[in-house]
Amino acid sequence: MIKANSRTADYPIDPLFLERWSPRAFTDAPISEGELLTLLEAARWAPSSFNSQPWRFLYARRETKHWPQFLGLLSDYNQSWAKNAAALVILVSKMTLLPRGADEEVPSYTHSLDAGAAWANLALQATRSGWAAHGMAGFDVARTARELRVPANYRVEAAIAVGRPGDKSLLPDPLRAREQPSDRLRLSQLAWEGGFQATPAG
Ligand SMILES: Cc1cc2nc3c(=O)[nH]c(=O)nc-3n(C[C@H](O)[C@H](O)[C@H](O)COP(=O)(O)O)c2cc1C
Repeated sequence: MIKANSRTADYPIDPLFLERWSPRAFTDAPISEGELLTLLEAARWAPSSFNSQPWRFLYARRETKHWPQFLGLLSDYNQSWAKNAAALVILVSKMTLLPRGADEEVPSYTHSLDAGAAWANLALQATRSGWAAHGMAGFDVARTARELRVPANYRVEAAIAVGRPGDKSLLPDPLRAREQPSDRLRLSQLAWEGGFQATPAG
């Protein structure tokens, strides 16, 4: 059994997978552009279909003129804690790709999956580097596309808050109660040798 924080893995894995979680309490530590680019560097080494690398990253650090605009794209709930993050990243994916040997782009079946792999790399590198990355779907996607000039053949996938994890006492009461690593479904509810099996997980 592998243990880290409150989590236990049933099969032997690198503890990094347990150590990565999504806190909302961040200290006010700023992130340098180089430190943030290290996280995006990890993201860009993700695998993707046809090596199409559909991920794009738009970012704002807290001390920059872009910050108020990026923060303002988030839902009120996400703003309430992400305002203390060191950086916000908007993850975008290109919905078309150029297959090897082809001369025209075709719709990509996997652009969101590939972008998700990049997000996972980013989050794991953040943990390894002493930062934390917290994914968010709670933001105004249409306004993000418009204000950040995302072209029509790109999909706005997610927002990501990056910060130096801090003590949960930094959070207001309702958030403080939820500030702990979550658990997971059992692997036997998710993985089957052979065909799909209906389980309580659905
Ligand atoms: C794509 C995505 C969107 C998410 N959206 C939000 C969000 O809008 N607000 C929030 O507080 N947490 C959000 N989360 C965090 C998840 O709730 C969290 O990852 C999940 O509960 C698992 O917990 P862990 O990341 O701490 O392991 C999001 C996570 C992902 C990956």
